[in-house]
Amino acid sequence: MSNFEIVAREDFSPVTYLLEIRHPLMAKAAKPGQFVIVMLDESGERIPLTIADFDREKGTITLVIQAVGKTTRQMQQECAVGTSLYAMVGPMGIPTSISHAKKVICVGGGLGVAPIYPQARAFKESGAYVIGVVGFRNKDLVFWEDKFRAVCDEFIICTDDGSAGIKGLVTAGIAQAIANHPDIDEVVAIGPVIMMKGCADATRPYGIKTMVSLNPVMVDGTGMCGGCRVKIGEQVKFACVDGPDFDGHKVDFLDLMTRLRRYTKEERMALEHWEKGEKGCRLQTANPAKAETTAVK
Ligand SMILES: Cc1cc2nc3c(=O)[nH]c(=O)nc-3n(C[C@H](O)[C@H](O)[C@H](O)COP(=O)(O)OP(=O)(O)OC[C@H]3O[C@@H](n4cnc5c(N)ncnc54)[C@H](O)[C@@H]3O)c2cc1C
Ligand code: FES
Repeated sequence: MSNFEIVAREDFSPVTYLLEIRHPLMAKAAKPGQFVIVMLDESGERIPLTIADFDREKGTITLVIQAVGKTTRQMQQECAVGTSLYAMVGPMGIPTSISHAKKVICVGGGLGVAPIYPQARAFKESGAYVIGVVGFRNKDLVFWEDKFRAVCDEFIICTDDGSAGIKGLVTAGIAQAIANHPDIDEVVAIGPVIMMKGCADATRPYGIKTMVSLNPVMVDGTGMCGGCRVKIGEQVKFACVDGPDFDGHKVDFLDLMTRLRRYTKEERMALEHWEKGEKGCRLQTANPAKAETTAVK
């Protein structure tokens, strides 16, 4: 039994769910922009997840997860209130630098909607005028509208089908905000890579500083394995220790997209094995004695 007890769960849609986890020390240390690496069970994969919220008084951190593959779907099935995660390390990564910007646009789409919230709140607390722009496929998938409205001076929802807010991508929301406010100092964007690329492209002509939070494949999260290598201008950086926030106008997004697709075959196989009820790694099943000595905590 670990100490990482799940104390609350909320399902926002068939693929998006929230887990609130008790960890007073982590809640005390967490800052906007940081992430944790979790393991569901002893033989589970280590997956990075952004700290979407933290409550220092309750001693909890909140994760909002999209079920996209084997581990995130398994967590969706197994993580109930009262159960525990096997391992959780963090807070990792360099916290978002809350600049002295007077007017900012905080943009979230897909798995980036929740992680942009603590950043919007931190900018608001620093005295900035905050414009929130969030994107969903349709109105049924919208969540945390009240939370965002409480920390944003303006809040723009964008939906693919126009069922809530503006019809279009978050870039339509950015265009509207820039048209109404020619004095935007900074844009912060979190979401799928293609979305963050779109945000950087949208602000480049205006020369507005644009920070993005990169999500390359991470393994150790300590700068040792090189898995999370990203190209930023002429430099190579490790997102786990040098980021995850980088200047969006310098990121090589095409390289990042290529690297994210590198293990598609293995990810599909892992999902198929799990769906068939084949538990864990076949190597470990074949040699349980060895599995015990190689288990990583
Ligand atoms: C810093 C950071 C913060 C993140 N925050 C969140 C979050 O708050 N909520 C959320 O839903 N997702 C977040 N992700 C993405 C999440 O880690 C992946 O969706 C998850 O690892 C997928 O695992 P899977 O087994 O379910 O799917 P898989 O089928 O294994 O993978 C699906 C896709 O997820 C990506 N992925 C797979 N393994 C990893 C890995 N070890 N590290 C990073 N990406 C991986 C790849 O693009 C892959 O194609 C974050 C990623 C990073 C790097
Ligand atoms: S995850 Fe290994 S170096 Fe960043």
